[in-house]
Amino acid sequence: MMEKTGSKRGVFSGHLGYILATAGSAVGLGNIWRFPYLAAKYGGGIFLLTYLVLALFFGYTLMVSETAIGRMTGKSPVGAFRALSMARRTADLTAKGSAKATAKATAKATAKGSKNGWQAGGWINAIIPMLILPYYSVIGGWVAKYLFEYILGHVSEAAEDGYFTSFISSPLGAWGWFMIFALMTVLVIALGVENGVERVSRIMMPGLVVLAVVMAVYSMTRPGAAAGIRYFLVPDLSHFSWMTVVAALGQMFYSLSIAMGILITYGSYMKKDVNIENSVHHVIFFDSGIAILSGLMIIPAVFAFSGGKPDALAQGPSLMFVTMPKIFESMSGGRFVGILFFVLVLFAALTSAISLAETCASTFEDELKWSRKKATTVVALIVAVLGSLSSLGFGPLFGVTPLGMSILDFFDFLTNSLMMPVAAFVICIFAVYVVGVRKISEEVHLSSRFRFEGMYRICLKYIAPFFVMVILLSSIANVLGIITI
Ligand code: PFF
Repeated sequence: MMEKTGSKRGVFSGHLGYILATAGSAVGLGNIWRFPYLAAKYGGGIFLLTYLVLALFFGYTLMVSETAIGRMTGKSPVGAFRALSMARRTADLTAKGSAKATAKATAKATAKGSKNGWQAGGWINAIIPMLILPYYSVIGGWVAKYLFEYILGHVSEAAEDGYFTSFISSPLGAWGWFMIFALMTVLVIALGVENGVERVSRIMMPGLVVLAVVMAVYSMTRPGAAAGIRYFLVPDLSHFSWMTVVAALGQMFYSLSIAMGILITYGSYMKKDVNIENSVHHVIFFDSGIAILSGLMIIPAVFAFSGGKPDALAQGPSLMFVTMPKIFESMSGGRFVGILFFVLVLFAALTSAISLAETCASTFEDELKWSRKKATTVVALIVAVLGSLSSLGFGPLFGVTPLGMSILDFFDFLTNSLMMPVAAFVICIFAVYVVGVRKISEEVHLSSRFRFEGMYRICLKYIAPFFVMVILLSSIANVLGIITI
């Protein structure tokens, strides 16, 4: 998938290489675990519709911008922000005709480690994955634990009420499984076997799609499931609240790996002849397709097995872990299907976790000039500390509830609802006022007709920054209790 060029930086082998890598990073727990529980909680069909509209307009605009910025500069986020803002300063000075100042700015732009305010924009993007990876690994640990239980054949135990709660509140169990998942991720990075994992995941990914289709059909044909299908697919305005939009936007960032520097980095590996616009569309369709399939797998089952009661729909992060075991218990060969399901989900989670860890480590290597070993060690430490807090938040640290949330929910809220809107806002402003929409368009035009250029420009300049700010301010006001949404 990755080839080495004459220079140090690798490149993707082409359109397919880029799509596979980006989809590998995009498709993960966000689609299978997070999307269904948010859709169940925030209105079903109306959440799905809001999500799709946001992905096609905002997601598309931000993905194109990030990828083009990465490809233009050949750098990861902090370096890309620095290089483009320096280039802009140089251009401004040249326009003013000050030859001396231009020379000075150019020298500064190329100087190793030179700093400027825009670098902070790059850092916001780079820090987000460092805060996501720890709690991502906690959920990865839950998946590993369930896989283990199905291997042992504990099909009916896993489906019992209260099983999940007693697992996550048992300090050693939940923490131990988190550490196992985190160690797997760090080992892959430390041993440099990401390519091997990616090759395996090329087989796993189609496997996941096929199994999700089978499971969705099974779930939708259970008695009582029809109400769930309707709830998930038919938008009902009476279920709409401002939180539907807030949650859908956060989910869109999370699921498409937007506003966390990853697409800038992936863009930097993209060849100039790869069609940015088509690639982005393919990733959005694929990623949303898996999310919808997961919704069809889980939400009808909530109705079939738990009567679709509001409590069952609103249970949040536990939804997949409570619902899927009930499905497996009800089917013949449930143990085998359960093993298959959790293996595939574990792989999807692992490829995403690896790409998160890679982004974190390469930021340290590129920006702080750390060795690979030091960068990986620090990433591992951050994961160990923050992940332990999230994991223990359901057990010994149960009483610690920042902003009234569990520690895991707090990190999820902090990154998805607060930091990502800020990072997305910064990207829009940077793209419009520093890089210039014209330059980004030129980059996209190198390999594509850019059919949606008009929409892209309007969305980037006017709608996205405004909307993202409104969302951000409303979630802050909500948390502070100033408004209720
Ligand atoms: N998009 C991934 C998911 O939906 O699970 C999460 C993620 C992975 C975000 C990798 C960012 C990233 F770099």
